[in-house]
Amino acid sequence: MNGAAWGAATETTDAAGPGATDVARVRPAARLRGTLRMPGDKSISHRALILATLAQGSSVIQGAGEGADVRSTAGIAAALGARVERSGEAGRTVDFRVSSPGAEGLANPRGTLDCGNSGTSLRLFSGVLAGQPFRAVLDGDASLRRRPVARIIDPLRAMGAELHAEGNDSHPPLTVVGRTPLRAIDVTPTVPSAQVKSAILLAGLRADGRTTVREAIATRDHTERMLRAHGVAVERTDLDGLAPGVAWSLVGGSRVQAVDERVPGDISAAAFWLVAGSIHPDAELTLRGVGLNPTRRAVIDLLRGMGADIKEVPLPPQGDGDASAGEPIGDLVVRSAALESIQIGAVDVAMAIDEIPALCLAATQARGTTVVRGGSELRKKESDRIAGIAAGLAAMGAAVDVQGDDLHITGGRPLQGAPTDSAGDHRLAMTFAIAGLVASGETLVWGASSAAVSYPGFFDDLEAVRE
Ligand code: S3P
Repeated sequence: MNGAAWGAATETTDAAGPGATDVARVRPAARLRGTLRMPGDKSISHRALILATLAQGSSVIQGAGEGADVRSTAGIAAALGARVERSGEAGRTVDFRVSSPGAEGLANPRGTLDCGNSGTSLRLFSGVLAGQPFRAVLDGDASLRRRPVARIIDPLRAMGAELHAEGNDSHPPLTVVGRTPLRAIDVTPTVPSAQVKSAILLAGLRADGRTTVREAIATRDHTERMLRAHGVAVERTDLDGLAPGVAWSLVGGSRVQAVDERVPGDISAAAFWLVAGSIHPDAELTLRGVGLNPTRRAVIDLLRGMGADIKEVPLPPQGDGDASAGEPIGDLVVRSAALESIQIGAVDVAMAIDEIPALCLAATQARGTTVVRGGSELRKKESDRIAGIAAGLAAMGAAVDVQGDDLHITGGRPLQGAPTDSAGDHRLAMTFAIAGLVASGETLVWGASSAAVSYPGFFDDLEAVRE
């Protein structure tokens, strides 16, 4: 393929470079073969820790993600008075035992609550803190300090909490002065965002009536499923309209019960291997125990729409009853395929928000021009992903054109190894590393260590499947 030199391994070294202090060097792979178990789902791991903190008593969370983001949430849970014990082998997944006084007994935290790089910790804990009788400050790293917070300040203020942020309430540090009880609201967030929806529902647990969140585009519903698994009655109503809109509601005062849960494998991590297996000319990869929630699986359906060969083997829920967090799981098998371009619209962007960088890489190897439309939210992630993906893929020789918030990617050009910059964004780092497996020569991924935000074992897995 592309006359590439085969076989040299990935190597990560500390060195000075553009915007980062570490670099991975990825050489192409002759073949990709193997079976991988994905890290525990990041979104579900955050929620499992947060709900265990709101529940009085002891909860066991098995198979949680080991990434830095989940650690941030565990740290905040501890700062709020929960005892969080980690066990299990270090590496792919971790088990947590959380013993908490529950929502009624959370401690007024002493210092700033450190969300690190994690937007989910920031937004979801804002909802929790809005209903607590104290003042707390949420902050994080330089990337987090650029993430928008007006989207949560507005609804939580409407519920009666006081919130203030930097830059005229635009970004962290975010101060939350809670109030009990909060006012129940019926609200349609201004952006399709599971984080905003979840913050409002978590606040709604401490409100004086029924809180309803309406969304024109149905975003991931883990909070709703998991609240139900924790004994909270959450109602779902389909909304009429073109997009798959839905309203979720719950009544304040409902108690979150302590339950044991098992976290499925992260489909957003699996997405990198689904793309690698699809675009590499000699690949067969099996991904075990992946969460296949209908609100998360768009990446599979979009890749299939491009002609990808992805086989799905549904698995019975792990553990008993609700123990798998109310989530469907399955194994995935991906094999090399000839891809065609696809049109990715605003609904797809919302449904595959974390997988768009990997899908853009797939588009570089598909016949025709793929257009990603309505990607403004992609600019507000851990980095500006429209700018970052365009720069990295273009550096590798792909035809990428940015028009406003749209990306036009014309496939068919072989990729060449080149320096790429993750901008400290885990999903860009992993996308460029996967690109390096199919490119000729050597690909440098600056800021590669950011992969550990969601997938600490990523580079080990990359070597494990290389033949
Ligand atoms: C997440 C929701 C998404 C996603 C993020 C995790 C969640 O963010 O990008 O990685 O766990 O709720 P938005 O809801 O802000 O789009």
